[in-house]
Amino acid sequence: MFLAPSKIIARWALNVQDWNPSDEQYKKALLCIQPEERDRIERFKFFSDSKLALVGRLMMRFLFYKSYKIPWNEIRFGRTKENKPILEFSIKFDLTHDYNEKIKPESKPNDPIINFNISHHGDWVVLVAAENCRVGIDVMKVECPKNQTVQEFFETLKDQFSDYEWTVITKPLQEIDQLHQFYKYWCLKESYVKAVGIGLALDLRTIEFHFSDKEERTNLSENKKTLRTKLYINNELEHKWKFEELYLDNLHCVAISYSALSDVDNIEEGRFEKIDIEEVLNIAKIL
Ligand SMILES: CC(C)(COP(=O)(O)OP(=O)(O)OC[C@H]1O[C@@H](n2cnc3c(N)ncnc32)[C@H](O)[C@@H]1OP(=O)(O)O)[C@@H](O)C(=O)NCCC(=O)NCCS
Repeated sequence: MFLAPSKIIARWALNVQDWNPSDEQYKKALLCIQPEERDRIERFKFFSDSKLALVGRLMMRFLFYKSYKIPWNEIRFGRTKENKPILEFSIKFDLTHDYNEKIKPESKPNDPIINFNISHHGDWVVLVAAENCRVGIDVMKVECPKNQTVQEFFETLKDQFSDYEWTVITKPLQEIDQLHQFYKYWCLKESYVKAVGIGLALDLRTIEFHFSDKEERTNLSENKKTLRTKLYINNELEHKWKFEELYLDNLHCVAISYSALSDVDNIEEGRFEKIDIEEVLNIAKIL
């Protein structure tokens, strides 16, 4: 099958800290997403978690409205059995399955396969979307969970990392630098798992990331991207996978994993576009 060039069409970040809606505004925003997602979000214990998830759903809708001109109320999302959100009625949008099945009747053979992914943590919701390319994204706030020391926290998660990765994580002398290394790896692993769409069904020790020598020693700064990270699966270098890592601010690191499906790779380095919630809410429609 001929595929048009692979390209990334959106790298978006939205800071939810500045959005303090009234009850009425919040309820209205909730009405602009699908009922089953609304119900799920309303069951969250903490308002901060529901706000992040709601903004994520609004951003997904905004993507298809803005980039593909699909009317807000005609966009319908489903989830794969592994829980990855997809545009419904079009398995062509779902790279974890055979995308020749269940394609919308009006689809043309050359239509791009669109893949997207969101992540939310701390103050940020991020989204990445691509044509003819697998993509996954992860954002994490660099912090130690409450009521635990850094070493106790590490102990509970150490077995998700290879011996090599753990050596890199624990190399810095300062605990804060170890935490930064830890989250850089965490985001890479999660973004890869999310690009493939397989959830928990993967032994994370078999996927091993290598930073370039220079980047191993330094932390990333805001908007300064790393693009030289390599992935080894069961000790074999994966040439097709590429990674972008950066910080959105001093405490939030992001990783994007992608792998082109097309022989022509038009993936250009791009900055994250900061999205304003008002821009989204202005065009959102009650469903
Ligand atoms: C599915 C998983 C990747 C979600 O990651 P998370 O860090 O909890 O949450 P994030 O904010 O990054 O992403 C959540 C979003 O990812 C999307 N998502 C859910 N399941 C997904 C899957 N299987 N594949 C891709 N994306 C998925 C959803 O949009 C979800 O948001 P929503 O439920 O509000 O719509 C994670 O729970 C998981 O299974 N990880 C396995 C790997 C692991 O154990 N990693 C430990 C760190 S090394």
